[in-house]
This record gives sequence, C-alpha cells and structure tokens, in this order.
Amino acid sequence: MKVILAYSGGLDTSVMIKWLQEKYGAEVVTVTLDVGQGEDLALIEERARKLGVVEHYSIDAKEEFVENYVFPAVKANAMYEGKYPVSTALSRPLIAKKLVEVAEKHGADAVAHGCTGKGNDQVRIEVAVRSLNPDLKVIAPVREWGLTREAEIEYARKHGVPVEERRSIYSVDQNLWGRSIECGPLEDPAEEPPEEIFEWTLPLREAPDQPGYVSIKFERGVPVELNGERLDGVSLIARLNKLAGMHGVGRIDHVEDRLVGIKSREVYECPAALCILEAHRDLEKLVLTKHELMFKELVDREWAHLVYTGLWADPLREDLEAFINSCEDRVEGEVRLKLFKGSLIVVGRSSPYSLYEHSLATYGAESRFDQSWSKGFIELWGLQSMTARWKKRRKEA
Ligand code: ARG
Repeated sequence: MKVILAYSGGLDTSVMIKWLQEKYGAEVVTVTLDVGQGEDLALIEERARKLGVVEHYSIDAKEEFVENYVFPAVKANAMYEGKYPVSTALSRPLIAKKLVEVAEKHGADAVAHGCTGKGNDQVRIEVAVRSLNPDLKVIAPVREWGLTREAEIEYARKHGVPVEERRSIYSVDQNLWGRSIECGPLEDPAEEPPEEIFEWTLPLREAPDQPGYVSIKFERGVPVELNGERLDGVSLIARLNKLAGMHGVGRIDHVEDRLVGIKSREVYECPAALCILEAHRDLEKLVLTKHELMFKELVDREWAHLVYTGLWADPLREDLEAFINSCEDRVEGEVRLKLFKGSLIVVGRSSPYSLYEHSLATYGAESRFDQSWSKGFIELWGLQSMTARWKKRRKEA
C-alpha cells in the first residue's frame, strides 16, 4: 500500500509517518507545500527522509496560492463572520490538489493528513481530495489513533521521531495570507491573548510613534502596486505583511463558529490581508453602483461561507465568481491607508471608473445638481410609506 502524506515537519505528521508504516505497512510519500509559511523546506525534507519515506516532494506553491486562491478571496472581500480572512481555509484545497497530483503520479492507494476530527480542515481537505479523485482513500490518523499528547510523545521516542524539548503549547498554521493561532491559554475566550503568541505584529507600545502611509493600486480587483512599485502578488503581500505588522496592524481575536458546531476562540495575525481587504472594499464603493454593492455583499458572504465550510469544489463557487469577476472589471484605482499603532484607516481613493461626481456632490457654486428635482422625488419616494402611516393612524384613532 502506498500513502501520500501531507507533511508539515511537526511532531504529529512525523509520528504519522511511522504510524502509517507500522499500522498499514504502508510505503509513505511525503508532500510539503510552501505557501509562504516561512519555514525551511530543506530541513523538513531532511526530517522526512530520516523517518524512512520512499519519496518526498517540496513544492513551491506560493504563486499558485496567491493567484488562484488569495486573489479570488480579495475580489470576494472574503471575511468569515465578518472577521476572519479565511487564510487557513484557502490553503486547504490547494494542498489537496497537490496531494492528488502526487498520488496519481505514484498510483497511490490513499492520501493522509494531520487534521483532527474536531476542526474544519479535515472537511476542506477531504471534500477537495474526493471531488478530484473519488477512488483515493483518505486516512486521518489523528481521528483513528486516539493518542493523548503524552502517549504520542512516548510513541515518538520509541520510534526514533525527534521530539523538541521546548515544544510550543500553541497550534499554529500560517501562510502568506495570515497566521492562525489556537490552544493553550487562548482557549479561555475571556482572557487577553498573551503577547508571546504574536510574531508578525508589534505590540502597540513598540509600534512607531509616527503614522505610516501605504498606497495600494488595484487592477481588475487585485493589488498590483505597493507605494508606487509594481510587484508580483507574492512579493506584494509579503512586503505588506512586514510594513503593516510593524505598525501593530493585523491582530484579530475572534469567537468563531466551526463547521462541526463548536464555537472556538481563534486568534489571527493578518496584516496584509486586513489592509488589502479594507482598501479593496473601499475602492468598490467608489466604482460600483449602490445596487451592485448591495447584491455583491450577499454573493461575497456566500463565497466566504462556501470556502470556510470546505466546499471549494462546489460549482456554486465558480458561479458566484462569474458575477464577482464581472463587477471587478472596473475595480481599478489607488487607495491610500494610514497605519498607526494598530489602527488602519483609509484616507484617500481614486479611480478612472469612479462614480463620484464632484459637480454633483459639491455644495459650492459650481454645483450642477438641480435641487428643485428633489421636491417631486420625495413625494414619489415616500408615497407608499406615508400613505400606510396615515391609514394606520386613522385606524388607531
Ligand atoms: N479556525 C481557522 C479555520 O478553520 C484556523 C484553523 C487553523 N488551525 C490551526 N492549527 N491553528 O480556518
């Protein structure tokens, strides 16, 4: 039996290599994706090989991640429950896709992942894998092995899996679009997250005492320039993470509804995502009509919900994207943000497709808005509402 394992290099998936070899007598092939998590892939590969995998793949998937997953999320203003930029969620269908590619290349029987049975990620990976290749089996060792933390470490020691002395008590997942942090003291939603969990954002008291300005230029709904410099998506996001993080911008503390019904306390650091999403939404307000904006809000929410709940594969996502992309044709222009001690404020925007007409909006003498139009308009606009109110009052009298 041959199994393709999504390998992070951490303790769980390292133990998994041994467990799959022992329990299933499997030949294990490991796959690690670089989605901008900032880890040493060579080191991870070395670790996997030491544990006796028959093959290992290190895949640089940063560009694909940004172009095909993050950018659609930007166009959809994707924020689950209004707060979480679905950063972890976006990487899962891509990981699944790569697992399936490697599995097909090797004629493997199954793919395996390190997700627990309590979270969203198991759903995201398995629905994605099975919709790409229904013949592949999926093994989720954490759901099967029933090991406590202590038993797992014991198993690791017995099987020669290196266990770091100072292991973090937190569970962290990161990629270019953000950092998700769970467990330990964070499990008490009443308590402020300890400073030690943050790595991408400075504490407010250490952030610069002068505000910083960032300008982001968008074309067809996606960011293409940062402070006047044209950059590819990966570099732009990486640079903005640093810039905004330095001002303490990007922290999110969220009580979130998981797909499996659990409410959980999640902490995120998403400096670039928060800046880009805020700027993008602002630019849409400048160029889209009120009617487009109202309808798009519904479409956007549905898009984020599908992606969060593991249904990247559902054709509805592409149906929604057809509408979204049609709007995004005109989402072009520049937005200026002011960053200061954790706050993020849009302070200016411009676009060749702007619907803002100075000659209409101005209170100055050059106004070409004829105020006499409003008199009749108000009568018609309020007609039914006023009539209903009059009748109601008569009945009550
Ligand atoms: N709650 C987030 C989600 O479901 C993040 C999960 C991240 N996992 C972690 N190991 N911290 O997308």
